[in-house]
Amino acid sequence: MPETLNYEPMIFAPKAKEAPLSEIQEQVLALKEEKNAVILAHNYQVEPIQRVADYVGDSLGLSYKAAEADADVIVFCGVHFMAETAKIVNPSKTVILPDMEAGCSLSDSCPAEKLRAYKEANPDLYVVAYINCSAGVKALSDVICTSGNAMKIVERVPEDREILFVPDQNLGNWVAKQTGRKMRLWPGSCYAHVLFTTRALEKVKMQYPGAPVVAHPECVEAVRDLADEVCSTEKMVGFCKSSPADTFIIATETGMIHRLQRELPDKTFIAGPTDKCACNECRFMKMNTIEKLRDCLRDLSPAIEMDEQIRAAAFTPIQRMLDWSR
Ligand code: 13P
Ligand code: SF4
Repeated sequence: MPETLNYEPMIFAPKAKEAPLSEIQEQVLALKEEKNAVILAHNYQVEPIQRVADYVGDSLGLSYKAAEADADVIVFCGVHFMAETAKIVNPSKTVILPDMEAGCSLSDSCPAEKLRAYKEANPDLYVVAYINCSAGVKALSDVICTSGNAMKIVERVPEDREILFVPDQNLGNWVAKQTGRKMRLWPGSCYAHVLFTTRALEKVKMQYPGAPVVAHPECVEAVRDLADEVCSTEKMVGFCKSSPADTFIIATETGMIHRLQRELPDKTFIAGPTDKCACNECRFMKMNTIEKLRDCLRDLSPAIEMDEQIRAAAFTPIQRMLDWSR
């Protein structure tokens, strides 16, 4: 049995001035100009990528930016379903991502054929799909949501329709509790967020009693119950900005702390711990590196390709989300 909680907390103290850009980062910026590209990066990306991105944000903000982009090329530094979403909303653009293998356990937990079979057996359900799913699942859904707008979206679903929420049971359970709306939950989860435990968080809380715990809704219910704030990654920035506290425990993927440090250089952030480790990185998000970003811009590959019928079917529920969450 491996020893647990046997580590010191990982502390990100107030940030000194940023180092100058590296040669590879400069190459990325030059290629971006040459190819007329825009770089969109999720909050969980490694710091060298976040620094050269035109926009760093959560899934909702990134969807709007992808839809609005007028550059020839969208470089999506995130995971596959995010780049796929960019292609769905802006199909005339070349959409590339640094590593085509950057998947998502949550997305994988709901294969489109399984959802199709479930819908066939239960034809009256209204399907609300968390954006962390494949284009095939989006194409079978009535509306998409992100962690930043899930409550707003669920509240707009006609009262007389029974909701099936896919694929994240933890986000679904959180939304059901917040809205009072009963929903069937698909049994999927994010392998990284379910690793946060109350045991590990309580240990850090004892060491830093004044530090609010900020948790992502993909965490399990016991962790969400312990948190002072539960929100999307973008809303974490706003919460830490407006809070009088100077130290925060961040229960989400550790890359989030780079974004927080850049926005709030005078505050201290402690990585949310698991039973085995002082931090918690998503192995898929971390597949993208600054070198792979440079190479994909240079080669305009790997690029997202998609069947037009699936793209068009997936676009409708995304557009509904963008309209409902304005
Ligand atoms: P948000 O950034 O939209 O909160 O999503 C978190 C996430 O898990 C993305 O994979
Ligand atoms: Fe998927 Fe979880 Fe990684 Fe987000 S953090 S990309 S939900 S596996």
